[in-house]
Amino acid sequence: MNDQPIGLFDSGVGGTSIWKEINKLLPHENTVYLADSINAPYGTKSPEQIVALSVKNTELLLEKGCKLVIVACNTATTNAIDYLRKAYPVPFIGIEPAIKPAALLSKSKSVGILATKGTLSSRLFHSTAENHAHGITVVEQEGAGLVPLIEAGKVNSLETEELLVRYLEPMLEAGIDFLVLGCTHYPYLIPILKKLLPADVKIIDSGEAVARQTKAVLERNDLLNHSEVSANGIFYTNADVAVLTGFLVDTDTRVEVSYLDF
Ligand code: SIN
Repeated sequence: MNDQPIGLFDSGVGGTSIWKEINKLLPHENTVYLADSINAPYGTKSPEQIVALSVKNTELLLEKGCKLVIVACNTATTNAIDYLRKAYPVPFIGIEPAIKPAALLSKSKSVGILATKGTLSSRLFHSTAENHAHGITVVEQEGAGLVPLIEAGKVNSLETEELLVRYLEPMLEAGIDFLVLGCTHYPYLIPILKKLLPADVKIIDSGEAVARQTKAVLERNDLLNHSEVSANGIFYTNADVAVLTGFLVDTDTRVEVSYLDF
């Protein structure tokens, strides 16, 4: 059981930002990653559609023998993780926006969150914000259009930069000192965000915390892979193999990327 892979799925390439943190902390864990890019973005879909897509992805990962599933997508986590946890016997790890640490550390008492419509309108997001951001102004901003641009490999385009300038403006007017990235695609925007934000605004994403949480859950369930052999990463996309491969060029781990109709 312990050498069975960890499964990850996302609406596309964004969850590779989570995969990289997992691979850094748990280099002996085999992984299977599903990029459901044909259905991206999830953020504009109804909760029912997001649950149905999450079920489809989970069942494929379980067929591949995964011992634990990371829902490497904020929108799928906030809309579907409760359902998945009840329906399947493996542990699930979700990605929630890091509102809590941002609210705790904020000195200006104003934090920004950039996320999809599906995440910002979810019950789980609202309860997290209500429970952990008392006395804090949370400036919510939907990142409309960003996921399709990232999926098209246009991370460093003028279009992307123009959208970000527009989305950051109300946050900067509100005096934020933390920007929470509430979508696993958005860590790829950090270089542009750093260029656009004043130096004293800090950016928080959930990748490292998710990796630590995954390790803790594997330990608790006695599922850690104790092998000394380096892991392999199997990646499937139902869209363009070259685009997904482009997001993995900076890894030393053996990865195989292929097309799968799922
Ligand atoms: C999306 O598919 O709209 C974004 C995925 C995410 O929320 O992480």
